[in-house]
Amino acid sequence: MTQEFGDKFEELQESIMEDMRKVYSEKVIDHFLNPRNLGRIQPFDGFGEQTGSCGDNMRIYVKVEDGRIINAGFSTNGCGPSIASGSMVTELVKGKGIVEAQRITQDDVLNALGGLPEESLHCALLAASTLKEAIRDYLTFKK
Ligand code: FES
Repeated sequence: MTQEFGDKFEELQESIMEDMRKVYSEKVIDHFLNPRNLGRIQPFDGFGEQTGSCGDNMRIYVKVEDGRIINAGFSTNGCGPSIASGSMVTELVKGKGIVEAQRITQDDVLNALGGLPEESLHCALLAASTLKEAIRDYLTFKK
């Protein structure tokens, strides 16, 4: 890579980041670029899959021990905000008891992310409802 190309590339990267900062909080950008808990965990005790109003899909896996969620993972084919929301909801749920975990809402995800633009609010709902589905699955099939 030539110096000139390298400089242009850095300029482009910075301009993309500037545009993102106009729309998204630092938290959203961080969780989008560095998603936590990405992928299926193995083994898992509960699995949820939901399709959002936009047609995008999310999957969440939870591992439960002594009534507490000790691990969680997610995957999605959705947008950047859905990646950030899946990342955040799986962070929020880790360490929580089942009852508390079931109470995690779209608003909790939005607050933890520092908000999302109006047109992306449903991405946080997708994450929260997929988590609920994973917990429901655990409660239905636990021994
Ligand atoms: Fe579909 Fe965000 S999850 S647009």
